[in-house]
Amino acid sequence: MTNILVTGSRGQIGTELIELLRSIYGREQVFASDITQVSVEERERGPYVYLDVLDSQGFAKTVVDYDIDWIVHNASILSATGERNPELALKVNARGTENAFDVAKRYNLRILSPSSIAAFGPSTPSVDTPDVTIMRPNTMYGVTKVWVELLGEYYHQRFGLDFRSLRYPGIISYKALPGGGTTDYAVEIFYEALKNGKYTSFLRPDSRLPMMYMPDCLKGTVDLLRAEESILEQRVFNLGAFNFTPSELASEIQRHLPDFTIEYQPDYRQDIADGWPNSLDDSQARRQWGWEPSYDLTSMTAEMLEKLAEILNVTYKSAIVV
Ligand code: SER
Repeated sequence: MTNILVTGSRGQIGTELIELLRSIYGREQVFASDITQVSVEERERGPYVYLDVLDSQGFAKTVVDYDIDWIVHNASILSATGERNPELALKVNARGTENAFDVAKRYNLRILSPSSIAAFGPSTPSVDTPDVTIMRPNTMYGVTKVWVELLGEYYHQRFGLDFRSLRYPGIISYKALPGGGTTDYAVEIFYEALKNGKYTSFLRPDSRLPMMYMPDCLKGTVDLLRAEESILEQRVFNLGAFNFTPSELASEIQRHLPDFTIEYQPDYRQDIADGWPNSLDDSQARRQWGWEPSYDLTSMTAEMLEKLAEILNVTYKSAIVV
């Protein structure tokens, strides 16, 4: 039996990852943890523990009390919130990860701690960015993600810690909102398109970023988490799917909703996006552990509109006739 602890479990990825892990490993084997209150219904779906990742003793106690084998350390402050409050991002992302690695080392646990396209920076080659390249991020979020990667690799080399990491692109989903990221526009746009028929983008029309639909993000995460350690030739992998600009995404939405309109008012998040790659080379993930995304811009857009319309209770009929 494998007991898994997920930190930041009420975030955009955690919310859905918990469900998937419980369907694979069993309801009682997957421990959700975060610092917020949860509803009775949410508690009934499986064990939830209060865990502030800055509390090293609480971290250790949780791991011991629930006999944890693997940690998925998702708790993190995203890029845009991190630029508004760099001290908080430094604290949660760096010290929280330090506590996670320390406890994983102490109790001999496998740990998956995600990284991001934000680990790259303005001097990184931006097209088909490879796994190993220049990494000089200019955001606090990015700096702490490089820290995750380097500290994890160090713990692996020095202490044999089974550390794994994925550089996620922007993740698009309809179940839980992302909180405070630069790629959040690619989720907000769907809500606004369905509710109001228009959206004001905080990024320029031509700002190209790597993106991914949640089902692929979950598949990649679980596949790397479960991969035999012996097949991994490295510890940190780029994870790519597709890439687009706000204007390309708007055009794709307009194929379904011809009256949808978009305006552009770039703000401080444009500077963040300008330092990130346009596209990722994820050939190592594909070769070493069989990574392969299933969705592209077209299939993601069609599904997002359909599923979100149901959730928002909005009447929706795609203009695309099949
Ligand atoms: N989605 C994240 C952000 O925008 C990138 O990892 O901050």
